[in-house]
Amino acid sequence: MAELTLPKNSKVQKGKSYPLESDSENKKGFSIYRWNPEDKDNPRMDYYEIDLSKCGPMVLDAIIKIKNELDPTLTFRRSCREGICGSCAMNIDGVNTLACTKSIEDIKGQVKINPLPHQPVVKDLVPDLTNFYEQHKSIQPWLKTKSSAPEEEWYQSKEDREKVDGMYECIMCACCSTSCPSYWWNSDKYLGPAALLQAHRWISDSRDDFKEERLDELDDAFKVYSCRAIMNCAKACPKGLSPAKAIAEIKKELALRK
Ligand code: SF4
Ligand code: SF4
Ligand code: FES
Repeated sequence: MAELTLPKNSKVQKGKSYPLESDSENKKGFSIYRWNPEDKDNPRMDYYEIDLSKCGPMVLDAIIKIKNELDPTLTFRRSCREGICGSCAMNIDGVNTLACTKSIEDIKGQVKINPLPHQPVVKDLVPDLTNFYEQHKSIQPWLKTKSSAPEEEWYQSKEDREKVDGMYECIMCACCSTSCPSYWWNSDKYLGPAALLQAHRWISDSRDDFKEERLDELDDAFKVYSCRAIMNCAKACPKGLSPAKAIAEIKKELALRK
């Protein structure tokens, strides 16, 4: 019989509270998912208050402040702080996005922060993206050629270069794949929007000689066709890209071959 309730040890509980001691007009509350595999406790939501007049404008500024000043055990990934590395992707206020480019001012009331959904959690806000990166690796995201290498560089016309616009900008943050219901249910078989956008980026590259082989690899009942055009991916992408469009293009290319 199907189990309709969560196992007891996965229920998220109320956690610790770190209220601001001084009174401030700029007080803001942050409710943050916490889970440590080393203790046997359930996940919990800890609550922190900070004075925004003493904090930078982005959600990442706030969680760095919380870690530095209130709770050094809070764990999250970040690197570039400017929307380039993709490592600070998390679910903020119910939406997958980058903490470093999400303005605190845009969020009304308490800021709720969870790890990217439907991925195993390593600790706190750090998801285990092993499968996601393996899928990226599987599409062979590099230039593959049959002709011998030129003496200087592989040339590309301006027009051909423009064909990878809307795809080369992808920073592999996983906001799209982890917002896709088809990926939630079939991430073992469905490549998901991020890997497919990357696949299409290389299929579209005029310098690559392996377009047919790349399409052969994708021509499978699940890898591409599990996309149901729900469009969550395009809504979630913090770089304004549309993986759904790239997937539709791949489906079109596959159909044209048949
Ligand atoms: S359009 Fe496809 S990839 Fe994007 S969210 Fe929907 S099912 Fe997932
Ligand atoms: S398509 Fe957008 S959301 Fe998806 S991995 Fe790339 S940058 Fe992130
Ligand atoms: S820290 Fe690099 S994208 Fe946010």
